[in-house]
Amino acid sequence: MSNSIEEIKKEVEAFVVSSEAELEAYRMRFISRKSIIGELFGNMKSVPAEERKAYGQDVNALKNLAEERFQFHIDSLKSGSKKAEDHPDLTLPPIESQFGTIHPLTATRQRFIEIFERIGFNVSSGPEIEDDWHNFTALNFPENHPAREMQDTFFLEKNPDIALRTHTSSVQIRVMENEKPPIRTLSPGRVFRNEAISARAHCVFHQMEGLYIDKGVSFADLKQTLYHFAKEMYTKDTQVRFRPSYFPFTEPSAEIDISCQICHGEGCNICKYSGWVEIGGAGMVDPNVLENCGIDSSVYSGFAFGMGIERITMLRYGIKDLRLFTENDIRFLKQFNSL
Ligand code: DAH
Repeated sequence: MSNSIEEIKKEVEAFVVSSEAELEAYRMRFISRKSIIGELFGNMKSVPAEERKAYGQDVNALKNLAEERFQFHIDSLKSGSKKAEDHPDLTLPPIESQFGTIHPLTATRQRFIEIFERIGFNVSSGPEIEDDWHNFTALNFPENHPAREMQDTFFLEKNPDIALRTHTSSVQIRVMENEKPPIRTLSPGRVFRNEAISARAHCVFHQMEGLYIDKGVSFADLKQTLYHFAKEMYTKDTQVRFRPSYFPFTEPSAEIDISCQICHGEGCNICKYSGWVEIGGAGMVDPNVLENCGIDSSVYSGFAFGMGIERITMLRYGIKDLRLFTENDIRFLKQFNSL
């Protein structure tokens, strides 16, 4: 025996392992069958019988120690390589990013503009905080007229001349005050009304206003334009219906209905089993409105319309609750990934 048990024990304890190669060297020297500890077992036979038991116990204890240290070295090499994981491997493919989606109301607004841009409309905008003149008076709402109450207005308490606009029709006035006909414009925007929030109504929603002023514009132009719109926004077989109605700023006035995009006439609770859904109002611009904006009503005529973007979008995608648009629920928004 070339090495005493005591010496080998010291060597086991002092052995430093800091790489795979050193671990293997350790294994060869102390663990494998041909290691020096293996050799000690081989020497068992030559130990005098009366010492053999004590010898065996010592060699076994040494073997256990060597194995414990071996496991310790394996573990510390592993945790050393874990540290390497803190420094990411920059050559790995990237983790997929979560892109946002186009909001369905935005998609509808964009489609709306696309359709009308191709027939010569531009886009205009006005303020959300509006004065009485632009929101009501210039639009031919007489003072104290009950028509003002059709729209539950948020007024500014300190100055009731100022309100949150109740419709985008106010932008018609701003455009006509500042531009000369011919005018072909679309005005998208947020509007505000004091309404209880439900599946069908909200106190903040969006409208799209349309205005066309030129010489000789007739109701036939209005109808043809809205037919074109309905077929482009929905499908070629979409039907449009005009129902006589009243708005102070148009004469004659109509409500615009389209054939129900949800049940296609079968009857459902969206169209209240009528097969028709209202999408907005329209009419020929009242001569008083033109005059209020300095446009000669004996020379020019025009049509206007106003639609709810939420309503148009709900019909487009079969959305049954208007509150979904503003709740920011990612499960809802994700469904529009492909837009
Ligand atoms: N401003 C109306 C509303 O909010 C909608 C409307 C109706 C707009 C007829 C128009 C129009 O331009 O001609 O209820």
